[in-house]
Amino acid sequence: MKIEFVAADEAAPKGGAVAVAAFSGAVLSDAAAALDAALGGALARAVAGGRFAGEDGQGLELLAPAGTPAARVLLRGVGPRDKAGPEIVETFAAGAYQAVKTSGVPTLDIVVTGHDAPSAARAAFGARLAAYRFDKYRTTEKSDKKPSVETVRIVCDDPKAAKKAYKPLDALADGVIFTRDLVSEPANILHPEEFARRVKKLEKLGLKVEILGEKEMEKLGMGSLLGVGHGSVRESQLVVIQWLGADDKDAQPIAFVGKGVCFDTGGISLKPADGMEDMKWDMGGAGAVAGLMCALAGRKAKANVIGILGLVENMPDGNAQRPGDIVTSLSGQTIEVINTDAEGRLVLADALWYCQDRFKPKFMVDLATLTGAIIVALGNDYAGLFSNDDALAENLLAASKAEGEPLWRLPLPAAYEKQIESMAADVKNIGGRPGGSITAALFLQKFVNGLPWAHLDIASTAWKKPSTNPTIPDGATGYGVRLLDRLVRDFYEG
Ligand code: BES
Ligand code: MN
Ligand code: ZN
Repeated sequence: MKIEFVAADEAAPKGGAVAVAAFSGAVLSDAAAALDAALGGALARAVAGGRFAGEDGQGLELLAPAGTPAARVLLRGVGPRDKAGPEIVETFAAGAYQAVKTSGVPTLDIVVTGHDAPSAARAAFGARLAAYRFDKYRTTEKSDKKPSVETVRIVCDDPKAAKKAYKPLDALADGVIFTRDLVSEPANILHPEEFARRVKKLEKLGLKVEILGEKEMEKLGMGSLLGVGHGSVRESQLVVIQWLGADDKDAQPIAFVGKGVCFDTGGISLKPADGMEDMKWDMGGAGAVAGLMCALAGRKAKANVIGILGLVENMPDGNAQRPGDIVTSLSGQTIEVINTDAEGRLVLADALWYCQDRFKPKFMVDLATLTGAIIVALGNDYAGLFSNDDALAENLLAASKAEGEPLWRLPLPAAYEKQIESMAADVKNIGGRPGGSITAALFLQKFVNGLPWAHLDIASTAWKKPSTNPTIPDGATGYGVRLLDRLVRDFYEG
């Protein structure tokens, strides 16, 4: 799909669609009112004859009205006029795209005149994210299910300025889409080595990518991560990505660490068959970190940023680790593996330690589809936030608000550490049902050596079906890329 920025005096293409906005109370925007005048009042009559109230997400459609070459005129509700900032423009554009994507029209004009260039850019961003599809494995799709829209035109006051403002957002969308593609791939295709190869290709953006295999990790002593991959015929990988965009390349970096379990069967503590296919997206944390690094490099962020991916496959096998096994982590701490399905924390234990040991970052944020319990606690919109540092947590919450990727902070009570005390080793890898997401986070904290750290449990948000946000089609969301890009942009650049 192509995205273009055009001026308001350019006529809508014949046979295309045009989308204009209305506010709460069915108040037409200036652009909608102008179009209504050209249509001889057809929009106003349609509003009067229906229940359209201009609320967010509502839509009304006229087919081939006289007075325009367009085949479809869409009136989209965007809610209260005084709240119509860039985020609303973004969802307006995404919603308009969703409304006509399979209607048969080849072009969609999204009219955002009256808004500034950054808002017009957000419209393009919203449309691009909305148009995401993972269709590479479809060979027999019925043509009426295929999107028809080939070109989206953002109709705005200053196309040149909007195009310029869109450039960094286009890079951010590249990152989100890179993540969605990784998360959507089935595990027979995207195993750890293939994942690492795809990340390696990002070097063309100016990133430095190192790949450590099992031999190297054994030498280092990463017994915790390696134990998870023991049952798999696929080789585990640790991917180290560096983006040194600050003026001083030696300035202390910030770091992001991702859980990349390319498939999680549970291992010997095997998961039930029902829904196990979802565990192809158990690499969503690593996927988000990879997408973030792609976005940062794509828009040449002025910051030094490290991304670490712990990539494994958790399989049952004669070689697989067993419940009761004790492994020695890179930190030196021993871990009793009570349940082989609590594997993400075992991967992160070594990835986090490696990260802080080698890079001494200002802070580390890890992302992981870590616990089913976070879905029970927060439902499917919010990810869980855990942190040992209030300032970092506040910054993450602010970034989350700004990008519309919801996040909710949960506590790290020291008293709950009792639940992960082991009879035989320094710590055990599960803490029972009470506060399952919290004890998982407390486990991770044992592998953080005092520096500011935050853990995002994204088991609730990495995948969504059905989606409730027009910028996020069903399936892989890319959650975390926008949030962390915003964190870097607003707090750690320049
Ligand atoms: N990958 C899962 C968590 C998960 C569950 C993600 C559902 C997305 C949807 C994780 O590795 C896991 O299996 N966690 C266990 C932990 C338990 C054994 C303590 C869980 O949540 O049941
Ligand atoms: Mn598991
Ligand atoms: Zn898992």
